[in-house]
Amino acid sequence: MATSVHMHVLLSSFLLFLSIFPLASASLKVDFYKTTCPSAEAIVKSAVDKAVSLNPGIAAGLIRMHFHDCFVRGCDGSVLLESTPGKPSEREHPANNPSLRGFEVIDEAKAKIEAECPHTVSCADILAFAARDSANKVGGINYVVPAGRRDGRVSIRDEASQLPRPTFNAKELISNFQQKGLSAEEMVTLSGAHSIGVSHCSSFSERLYSFNATFPQDPSLDSKYAASLKTKCPPGSDNTVMLDASTPNRLDNKYYKELNKHRGLLTSDQTLLGSPSTRPMVLTNAQHASTWARKFAKAMVHMGSIDVLTGSQGEIRRRCSVVN
Ligand code: HEM
Ligand SMILES: *[C@@H]1O[C@H](CO)[C@@H](O)[C@H](O)[C@H]1NC(C)=O
Repeated sequence: MATSVHMHVLLSSFLLFLSIFPLASASLKVDFYKTTCPSAEAIVKSAVDKAVSLNPGIAAGLIRMHFHDCFVRGCDGSVLLESTPGKPSEREHPANNPSLRGFEVIDEAKAKIEAECPHTVSCADILAFAARDSANKVGGINYVVPAGRRDGRVSIRDEASQLPRPTFNAKELISNFQQKGLSAEEMVTLSGAHSIGVSHCSSFSERLYSFNATFPQDPSLDSKYAASLKTKCPPGSDNTVMLDASTPNRLDNKYYKELNKHRGLLTSDQTLLGSPSTRPMVLTNAQHASTWARKFAKAMVHMGSIDVLTGSQGEIRRRCSVVN
C-alpha cells in the first residue's frame, strides 16, 4: 500500500518532469559556454569596453542592434547578415540603414572567439552579451545573459517592417510589443534605452514642421526644446540629435523625467506620457531609478528569448555577416 502511494507520487512527478522538460530543452542557459568556450563572455566584454571607451555611442548602437535582431525572426543574428546578390537583408531596411551601428565590435569579438574556440559561440549570443556589456558600461546595469542561441540562415529586408515606428502612438506600440510576447510595462521599461544615443532628424522632423493642418508643430513638444531642435534640424537636413538631452551617454531613468517635461524626442517617446494607459508607468519610472534599472535588466533578458533557435536548429556562423 505504502509502496503504491510512493510509486504514484514518483510517477506523477515524472510526468510533471516530462511536461516541463520540452520547455527546458528549448530554453537558454546561463553559463552556456562554461566548458566549451570559457572566455567567450570575457572576450565580448573586452571588445565592448574598448569600443565604448572610444565612442560611447557604440553602446547605444549595440543595445539597439540586439532589439532589432530579436524583433525580426527572433534573436538569431539575422540583423548581422549582409545582403547577397538580389537579396537585400535586414541591414538594408530604412529602420537599420544607415543608423544601426556597432557591427565592427561584433565582428572583432567573433574573430577573437573563433581563434580560441572555433565554431562554438553563436553571433546571436555574442550580440546579446554585447548589449548587456553596453548597458553595464554606460548604465551600471548588471544581469546574467542566458545563452545557447543558434544563428539563423535567413535575413530579408522587408521583414524589418515589423519593427515599431517612431510615429506610433501608445496603442500601436503596445500591440507591436504584444506580438512579440512583451507586455505594455516591458515596452515602457525598454523604451528607457532612449536615454542614450541619437536619432536622425528624419525620424521626428514632422513633429517640428508638419504635424497637422492646424498645428505645424506638435503641441506635445516643449516649445523651447522644439526651437532648439529646429536649429539642429533645419528642413531637409538629416543631422543627428541626442535622444535624451539631459544625460545623452548615461543609461538611466532621466529619459522618463524628460518625458514629464515634454522633451521626448520621438512621437513614440512622448506618447508614453500622453496616453493614460502608459502614463502611470512613466511617472513611476521617473521616480524610481533602481527599480527601473532592475526592470530593464529583466525585460532585456525576456526580449533576448524571443523566438530563439536552440539545440540543432540553425547553425553557428563562422563569420557573423555571412551564413556558413
Ligand atoms: C518602443 C518602440 C521603439 C521605437 C519606435 C524606436 C525607434 C527608434 C528610432 C527611430 C531611433 C533613431 C534612429 C535614427 O533615426 O537614427 C531609435 C534609436 C535608438 N533606439 Fe529605439 N525604438 C524603440 C524601442 C527601443 C528599444 C526596445 C530599444 C532597446 C532596448 C531601443 C534602443 C535604441 C537606442 C539605444 C537608440 C540609439 C541608437 C544609436 O545612437 O545608435 N529602442 N529608436
Ligand atoms: C491637430 O492636433 C491637435 C493636437 O493633437 C488636435 O487637437 C487637433 O484635433 C488636430 N487637428 C487636425 C486638423 O487634425
